[in-house]
Amino acid sequence: MAKVAVDHTRYSKQLYHSLGDGGALVMSLDSDGRPNPMTIGWATLGSIWSLPICTILVRPSRYTFSCLNITGDFTLCLPYPQMRSATNFCGTHSGRDHDKLAECNLTGMPSESVKSPGIAECGVIWECRIVYTDDLNPDTLAPEIIRSAYVGDDYHRFYYGLVERCCADPNFEADFFRQSEES
Ligand SMILES: Cc1cc2nc3c(=O)[nH]c(=O)nc-3n(C[C@H](O)[C@H](O)[C@H](O)COP(=O)(O)O)c2cc1C
Repeated sequence: MAKVAVDHTRYSKQLYHSLGDGGALVMSLDSDGRPNPMTIGWATLGSIWSLPICTILVRPSRYTFSCLNITGDFTLCLPYPQMRSATNFCGTHSGRDHDKLAECNLTGMPSESVKSPGIAECGVIWECRIVYTDDLNPDTLAPEIIRSAYVGDDYHRFYYGLVERCCADPNFEADFFRQSEES
């Protein structure tokens, strides 16, 4: 069934849950226009500049890093709990060596407001245009976070995405809850 437009905050609770439990999926395009999904655990959804902003943290070593810099936008896709094998795969394999979308039997879904496609099998999709980036400055980060989150100098770049559109499966909430109970 086709996804319907929803307020970008409607499923923030489910997003927050997924970020800490298996991750969500970020989609961007590589230089050949090939979509590349990457699992993400560190992201925020909130209000900055009185605008709906989704911020994702991506390390320079990721193929997604170069994709984001090329595409200028991304989609944040919220998987159902039963998609755990896909989020595991997309979080442990690189698009440099794999066509992750095909290998996970996932379907790219054209977005309405950005170039990056969404993932049809996911329940909610945030279409985001990058309006600001910022490279983490370790000199100003609390030392205990440096110790716990960084072993080398692969410091994240923060990508601030203006949420241009959010859409969801009509039965998302009930299906997500049922699958959470089953898994
Ligand atoms: C649960 C989970 C959460 C992750 N969160 C992030 C993240 O927030 N930022 C990041 O740069 N990498 C994160 N990763 C690692 C990337 O998903 C992984 O390195 C992936 O293979 C990169 O794919 P790519 O090279 O196609 O971009 C996470 C991995 C997992 C399994």
